[in-house]
Amino acid sequence: MAENNQNAMAGSAPAKQNPVATNGGVYKPPVDRADTNPYKDSRVTSVGAWFQERFAVVIPVIDYLKKKEVPLHRHSVWYYFGGLTLFFFIVQVLTGLLLLQYYKPTEAEAFGSFVFIQQQVPYGWLIRQIHAWSANAMILMAFIHMFSTFFMKAYRKPRELMWVSGFVLFVLSLAFGFTGYLLPWNELAFFATQVGTEVPKVAPGGAFFVNILRGGEEVSGETLTRMFSMHVVLLPGILLIILAVHLLLVQILGTSAPIGYKETGRIKGYEKFFPTFLAKDAVGWLIGFAIIVVLSIISPWEIGVQANPLAPAPLGIKPEWYFWGQFLLLKDFSFAGGELLAIALFTTAAILWVCVPFLDGRASREEKSPFFTLFGLFLFIAFIVYTFRVFLLYY
Ligand code: HEM
Repeated sequence: MAENNQNAMAGSAPAKQNPVATNGGVYKPPVDRADTNPYKDSRVTSVGAWFQERFAVVIPVIDYLKKKEVPLHRHSVWYYFGGLTLFFFIVQVLTGLLLLQYYKPTEAEAFGSFVFIQQQVPYGWLIRQIHAWSANAMILMAFIHMFSTFFMKAYRKPRELMWVSGFVLFVLSLAFGFTGYLLPWNELAFFATQVGTEVPKVAPGGAFFVNILRGGEEVSGETLTRMFSMHVVLLPGILLIILAVHLLLVQILGTSAPIGYKETGRIKGYEKFFPTFLAKDAVGWLIGFAIIVVLSIISPWEIGVQANPLAPAPLGIKPEWYFWGQFLLLKDFSFAGGELLAIALFTTAAILWVCVPFLDGRASREEKSPFFTLFGLFLFIAFIVYTFRVFLLYY
């Protein structure tokens, strides 16, 4: 079908002219574009030729994706969790857009619109349940992805910025969870946000930050509007930019293998990212989606009762599971000055965590670094123990 390409090029003037020549102010396409099309003589349909003529620039990108390979070894399964996190994020965007058609972000209307979505809008209940379950799934996948890349030391040179951008994505995902929690404007969400936004107050400058976040001294309708704008505009905007950087780095630098695996022959081979790995990724996404649909049906999230800022806080208020660690640490440190100490401890651990690629010189020299493995294990076990303790205390 080479003639298709020739047809597509019909009307172009012969060889070498000024690529952006104009004709009495009328734009003329660059005449040597066909030379940059590596598929010019390949067999394509006329539709294919039409697209090639216009998008020849993306062909090298597809070629590049085809060249990317994923190593096969006994820990390869962990390579699926980044893609799963991405998948649940996409589910969030799509279901969030649908919810946005009916949700009203004001103190007077929020709870009512939320009940309307659950009870009146066709399949509204399903969309809301999928949004709530997928949010939890996304954060769980991000946790697994973060710890698995940590233990495989995938952050080591030259992937430092993959780690740093990933960490920012993780913090943004938590911020999504926090800001979204208040939106139903039910009692639990209201008081949990009250408690959660109280925490930074003990840190220097914290009161100012809390004031901005709440839009005043107390949690109010103003807070709801702020959380809403962050949840649907600010956070998605920032996340998309950082995600683009993260995924671009993944494509440019490729997938790493654990330290020493290449040298000791523990890599059984490589598989093409496009289409083999991506097809397997898609199977994982379908299974993940099926699981959250089943959970949405058999274990729906409650609607609760409308928030009443004047009512006393109900007993047993606690945040979402991914904040349980910090929540209990603050409770354990309830002595004088304890809260500030807990915040300082937590912030230090987070700063060390994000700086790991720059601190772990041994891993960058492709040597084992047991000290950092122990650091990761310590944080992982502390997180599990604290989360489990909240579970025991509150259920
Ligand atoms: C919204 C959150 C995130 C998304 C959508 C995401 C997406 C991805 C994807 C699709 C990959 C390639 C496949 C894979 O290796 O799993 C990847 C790789 C990677 N991610 Fe993330 N990620 C996220 C968060 C994180 C976090 C929290 C970290 C760590 C702090 C991180 C660090 C890395 C690293 C180091 C790699 C390279 C893995 C390797 O080369 O072996 N990512 N990410």
